[in-house]
Amino acid sequence: MFIFASMLGFEMKAVYREVYGPPEVLELKEIEKPVPMDNEILMKVHAASVNRADSHGMRGTPFMARIILGGLRKPKTKILGYDFAGQVESVGKDVTEFKQGDEVFGTNKVAGGFAEYLCVLEDLMLIKPPNVSFEDAASVPGAGVTALQCLQKYGEMQSGEDVLINGASGGVGTLAVQIAKDKGATVTGVCSTSNLDMVRSLGADEVIDYTKENFTQSEQRYDLIVDVVAKSSFSDCKPILNSNGRYVTTEFSPGLAIKAKTARGDKKFLPMLASPEKDDLIYLKDLLESGKLKPVIDQRYSLDKVPDAIRYLEEGHVKGKLIINM
Ligand SMILES: NC(=O)c1ccc[n+]([C@@H]2O[C@H](COP(=O)([O-])OP(=O)(O)OC[C@H]3O[C@@H](n4cnc5c(N)ncnc54)[C@H](OP(=O)(O)O)[C@@H]3O)[C@@H](O)[C@H]2O)c1
Repeated sequence: MFIFASMLGFEMKAVYREVYGPPEVLELKEIEKPVPMDNEILMKVHAASVNRADSHGMRGTPFMARIILGGLRKPKTKILGYDFAGQVESVGKDVTEFKQGDEVFGTNKVAGGFAEYLCVLEDLMLIKPPNVSFEDAASVPGAGVTALQCLQKYGEMQSGEDVLINGASGGVGTLAVQIAKDKGATVTGVCSTSNLDMVRSLGADEVIDYTKENFTQSEQRYDLIVDVVAKSSFSDCKPILNSNGRYVTTEFSPGLAIKAKTARGDKKFLPMLASPEKDDLIYLKDLLESGKLKPVIDQRYSLDKVPDAIRYLEEGHVKGKLIINM
């Protein structure tokens, strides 16, 4: 019966879980292929990328991840994978922007990308430029929106400013360096010895090796510090911020948000929480298409190796992004 269903195309392979936990809770399964609702698109996924949100969503930690991603006791999202690129298989009757056969990429607020097929709304999806690969397109949505919002929405970066990016070699950092350069900043990237050349090649004007030098003791002053990997603190960075300088961190909690609101002085403390917007995706698509944004891909995995990919991500030393190819 199962072989029959699979042959008829009603089944698909997906990395599935029922409970929160370590990568061992993830299981490659044959499950029912989703059917799009009137406002949804059924996609054949070609590539998906791995984000920290997949690790938080998998483990259900920090607890806030359960509130944001859904499912206090058990995960609502059975299939992880927020960022995807692929081809439209069919569309619901109310979908206007996309048609069967379109090559697209985007992000799905309720995940589902670690599967052969995925149903998505059209609001956070774009046509993939023909000169951009599925892998590159899948690398960018979550990490790129986070990088852009750190710099622009929270950091209010202006052209000509001095910007330091701590964690310049990771998924968010490699994109943040390139976006900050595109927007006219002078960029210092902080990374370890083996990543210095890579971060320079992305356009960083200066690099600091965090294994040899504590950037918070630098003589240099910055208008904006973006701590992508949340390894420093506002109080450590305050002395190296210019007046009216901003410190953005990807570490977010309600407590930090209150602390930020009540902070005094001319230097700003800005814990950020990324929220995907279509305009941000359009900006990133244009950069990709023009060749100004070049994703760095560390490793590629097949669908059955998603647990290995998340294990590697959790070690905290990925250079750029990890890709799952279907
Ligand atoms: N607030 C939000 O909305 C939001 C959204 C997205 C992501 N995030 C958070 O942002 C963080 C970064 O995400 P990501 O995808 O860029 O992570 P990632 O790709 O896993 O970051 C790995 C990189 O961090 C570098 N790194 C590790 N320790 C470092 C240190 N002490 N100083 C400088 N660099 C260091 C590593 O370089 P080495 O190998 O050289 O150590 C590696 O290249 C995560 O903690 C994630 O949870 C938050």
